[in-house]
Amino acid sequence: MTEDLAPKKELAAVKGTKDILPGEVEKWQALERLARETFELYHFRELRAPVFEPTELFEKGTGATSDVVTKEMYTFIDKGGRSLTLRPEYTPSVVRAIMEHRLDLEGAPMRYYYMGPMFRYDKPQKGRYRQFHQVDIEVFGEKDAAVDAEIIEMAHALLRKLGVTGTETLVNSVGCRACRPAYGAALREAAGKRLAELCPDCQRKAETNPLRIFDCKVEGCREVAASFPSIQDFLCEECRDHFARLLATLDVLEIPYRIDPRLVRGLDYYTKTTFEIVSSHLGAQNALLGGGRYDDMMKDFGGPDVCGTGFAMGIERVLSVAEIPLADPKVLYVAYLGDEAKKAGLTLARFFRANGVECLIEFKDRGMKAHFGRANKLRASWVLIVGEDEMAKGRFGLKAMATGRQVDGAREELLALLRES
Ligand code: HAM
Repeated sequence: MTEDLAPKKELAAVKGTKDILPGEVEKWQALERLARETFELYHFRELRAPVFEPTELFEKGTGATSDVVTKEMYTFIDKGGRSLTLRPEYTPSVVRAIMEHRLDLEGAPMRYYYMGPMFRYDKPQKGRYRQFHQVDIEVFGEKDAAVDAEIIEMAHALLRKLGVTGTETLVNSVGCRACRPAYGAALREAAGKRLAELCPDCQRKAETNPLRIFDCKVEGCREVAASFPSIQDFLCEECRDHFARLLATLDVLEIPYRIDPRLVRGLDYYTKTTFEIVSSHLGAQNALLGGGRYDDMMKDFGGPDVCGTGFAMGIERVLSVAEIPLADPKVLYVAYLGDEAKKAGLTLARFFRANGVECLIEFKDRGMKAHFGRANKLRASWVLIVGEDEMAKGRFGLKAMATGRQVDGAREELLALLRES
């Protein structure tokens, strides 16, 4: 499309969203295929939830003091007067679905995965979009830290298949309801002493949820937060043991990690384990994926006391550093001369497609030379030549574009040749 024919601003894609065009979409498809294959090897099953949900689901789940809920939600009132939100993340939706369908009573392992768009009204920049896509996995009913380590290992297995290198695994424990209040009090005290140096948003957080000061991107706040006490010094015995078990299992699985006591993650629901895998090839938005344990969410929703753990991977970010080998598709281009041959060409295309050969027939009448020019331009692997002589004999020409070799044959013979090459 030439510049002056581009859509007017009002009709252009919304800021922070983008089209994924042929040429790029093949990478998305490969990532999605490899993700499915990998997760199913670990006995995960797909669970698809709606794109919008009641706003309360995220207020309660993601957390009323998180940046996602306070600043970034796409919330609207529908025609029935109900407040709905385009999901900013997937975890609360899975918890809701389990409760709604009582999947916890089925006895099957509760291991779910999903891929799809999420929506956050944040300032768009490289690696940060308003409609972005996540691959999300969640496990329920497994208290043991071994499962946290297993999903981190699974994330690495997928990243390896995607040719992602230069990653680092950060882990932490954010404690539980028993030990976090004491840490919260220590943070509040530390923040209180340096309140004037904090941004207005963090001054508010110092009151509501001081843990969220760690999420602030303002340089001054980051410096202040670096001097705050470490949560590792406040963990109760159970959380300390759990964390030790996580690290021990990561060692068993030979996953190198770095403990980052500031890794509290931006969502309110985490308990015990938190982790991120970051890329050294990316700038500010370097988290390829993040996750952790959320043992209280289902109970807090009024459901059964079933713990959860999981992670979400940002597809755009992973693709920006992935090296996925893609094979060029092999296309058979149908070249015909005249109306009768066009009909025969269509029937032949149908035959080859039914037998698994990708075929292209275009309906703009061309001469043979123009057909070959077109096939060349499209980088077709073969050209099928359908003219009057060929139709009369029931034998068609097949030219391999790379070698220039041409053979004649009935359609079955040509199919056998195509299958061999
Ligand atoms: P999150 O850290 O908010 O966690 O997002 C997970 C990943 O999604 C990030 O590491 C990043 O790769 C990608 N991401 C997030 N926001 C954007 C954005 N605006 N543009 C592009 N990519 C983005 C969660 O969403 C949790 N639900 C993860 C989880 C699952 N925890 C437990 N289970």
